[in-house]
Amino acid sequence: MRNDLDFAWPREGLRRVPYEIYTRDDIYAEERGRIFMGATWNYLCLEIELPYPGDYRASFVGDVPVVVTRGRDGAFHAFENRCLHRGATLCLKPGNGAALSCVYHNWSYDLTGKLTGVAFQKGVNGKGGMPPEFSIADRRIRPLRVESFAGLVFGTFSDVTPPIETYLGPEIAARIRRVMAKPIRLMGGVSQYLHSNWKIYADNLRDSYHASLLHLFYTTFKLNRLSQQGGIIVGGDGGNHVSYSKMLTDRQSADYDAADIRAQQDGFSLADPSLLKGRDEFGDGITLQILTVFPGFVLHQIQNSLAVRQILPKGLGETELNWTYFGFEDDDAAMKTIRLKQTNLVGPGGYVSMEDGAVVGFVQRALPGAAGDASIVEMGGAGATSQDTRVTEAAVRGFWQTYRERMGI
Ligand code: FES
Ligand SMILES: [Fe+2]
Repeated sequence: MRNDLDFAWPREGLRRVPYEIYTRDDIYAEERGRIFMGATWNYLCLEIELPYPGDYRASFVGDVPVVVTRGRDGAFHAFENRCLHRGATLCLKPGNGAALSCVYHNWSYDLTGKLTGVAFQKGVNGKGGMPPEFSIADRRIRPLRVESFAGLVFGTFSDVTPPIETYLGPEIAARIRRVMAKPIRLMGGVSQYLHSNWKIYADNLRDSYHASLLHLFYTTFKLNRLSQQGGIIVGGDGGNHVSYSKMLTDRQSADYDAADIRAQQDGFSLADPSLLKGRDEFGDGITLQILTVFPGFVLHQIQNSLAVRQILPKGLGETELNWTYFGFEDDDAAMKTIRLKQTNLVGPGGYVSMEDGAVVGFVQRALPGAAGDASIVEMGGAGATSQDTRVTEAAVRGFWQTYRERMGI
């Protein structure tokens, strides 16, 4: 079927993803308006990254630069990170103050993005300056609506985006609350560049099929079992998801210890098995929860490693991935050590996450010549609804369902 983008999705629907979706410049440009600046909630930062009134920092919505601030009253605000004068980036680094001043010609703004001052507005010695009819009143940088949910700050450019909790859907909201249950403590963060279109990574996150196949750390140390309890929750209007599993229940922990002995016989074992000795801190035995919110937010719990990730397109074939690691304020010393150790599992060089960064590049690298072809997304059937198995691509289909709806293709 044709549409205004002249994009023909294959007849098989969600069971196919045409490779052209990753390679067309016009699609990339339209994603900015229809998705990122459209009726979506985009993760901006953690509340705790702006703890005091007057704090501000730069962030992005897709590839659109924005500033996030905490006003004098403690409320969060966001607006485009582009000076009204000649378009310079306004906020270059995090800071605190009553105003933001542009480095180029010193126009200044309050914490809601309202213009408050123009340098040499009346000229010097009666000469030059802005024309008398130029008024700074009622000039403001385009704002975003901002809502916080469980310590996460989201922004939207659209007036019609439903409240964040409605947008998340009840299952996803509950799974965010499960992790963000008490005051958090920032541990740090990293940023990495993925050499792929942003959607290849968004798709990879929802692809629970690859976990025990691509990630050799799990298979080498016999940590991943097909018998693990787990499943996929597809939430929101399809684009949000949770993949979860239980790896170290008491019984499976015994299995793990036995497996560790076998692994040693095979010549492979962890010199320091304490890496994976964590705590069941949420009391439900779930040791892995990967959660996404369309279009570019991720919250993960991998054992006791907790982090949020922000997916930012940087052109058709490049993506920035920002990781922010955290624990809880009431972590004891042993828990702090566990979290630090388990941070080795994730991030750009993580024992588990490293391959995701590589494999999305492998897909991107193979795209030339693929126009007209499509990938096969049939594991677990053709549906895009929750399943109690992870041997499925249901959440991948959910992503594409939402994507197509918003893009009108
Ligand atoms: S571009 Fe910002 S003050 Fe000129
Ligand atoms: Fe992965």
